[in-house]
Amino acid sequence: MSTLMQTAVGPRAIIDGREVDYFAGTSYYGLHADRRLIGAARDAIAQYGTGPGNTVDTPPMKRLREEIAHYFGTQDARVVASGYLSDILLAQTLSPRFDVAFIDEKAHYSVYDGLRVTGKTIVRFAHRDPEDLRSKIAARLPAGGAPFVMSDGVFPVTGAIAPVDAYHEVLSAYPGGLLCIDDSHGVGVLGERGRGTYEHFGLTGPGIHFGATLSKAFGALGGFVTGTREFIEEIVRSNRIPEGASPLSTGAVAAAAEGLRVLSAHPELRAKLRSNVAYLRAGLADLGIETPRTPVPIVCILGRDGIDLGSVARALSREDIVVSHIGPGGYSDSPPVEVLRIAVFSGHTVEQLDRLLRGLSRSL
Ligand SMILES: Cc1ncc(COP(=O)(O)O)c(C=O)c1O
Repeated sequence: MSTLMQTAVGPRAIIDGREVDYFAGTSYYGLHADRRLIGAARDAIAQYGTGPGNTVDTPPMKRLREEIAHYFGTQDARVVASGYLSDILLAQTLSPRFDVAFIDEKAHYSVYDGLRVTGKTIVRFAHRDPEDLRSKIAARLPAGGAPFVMSDGVFPVTGAIAPVDAYHEVLSAYPGGLLCIDDSHGVGVLGERGRGTYEHFGLTGPGIHFGATLSKAFGALGGFVTGTREFIEEIVRSNRIPEGASPLSTGAVAAAAEGLRVLSAHPELRAKLRSNVAYLRAGLADLGIETPRTPVPIVCILGRDGIDLGSVARALSREDIVVSHIGPGGYSDSPPVEVLRIAVFSGHTVEQLDRLLRGLSRSL
């Protein structure tokens, strides 16, 4: 039987008629249900219609590009209809500049698909392993060639952060080397200003790029790439997506711009998310379940012998607590064991986190 979600995604949700504590999905700040975003979407639709119906720019799209550039401190940005497409956009645009692509073996499907369309050789390196990357580049890159390294910034199931600082160091031996991440789960969350995985590591400078989504922390839908004005112009010139695919619908564009504004104007939301994540990770450690002490709001409990995590998820569900149970290999970066993926939101209360911890302590 399929599940029917009868409210917006948020810390409390109604699913199949039952009100539950919700710890799934990716709306880390609950912005998909925020009245400011909904109001912005409603006003924009009333004025400009539901969708573009062409590929011409609109005032809401102009504002969204400006909000993205302001949020990330870049000159410009390009928006596409999904985060999935942003990886294709980046890989296609950058492909004349590299010879061989090296990608994390557990990278998201969009990373693989983005690179496949370039027709370049793709070499997979071991998950989050800079030393394997170093030896794969040494073995597979032709002399004088430029390597392109691509990975998720934050992995969607385990919440692990890619060691992009170490990848950058590996690439420093290769003039023209490029580092590119899909930072869909890092933006809005990691770093001092919520700019994502590069900011988390303090990584700046030429030769690093990212694509990301507006459908998670920012509370809307769509994908984007940032950069200098010249780079964004190059994207438009060299890529088929901006002309060949319809732009994002008006409501999503306006909601995303407002989501970026809200997150930028309210750093306390990020602080609350961090404290919730730290609280849950500490509570789990008290139960003997160690998880990496990172600020990533994806908390992953790995399966182990003698524990059936499917039963744990069902027991929690009977207590009206929803977490995701994912089987081995069930999603792009799933490990070879089953997991419980717990999504923490800034709007979760300490009482909700305590209820979850009590439920887990009873069934684990
Ligand atoms: C790592 C990663 N990249 C890209 C995407 C695709 O983003 P979108 O849903 O905006 O197409 C997802 C989707 O959830 C994701 O987890």
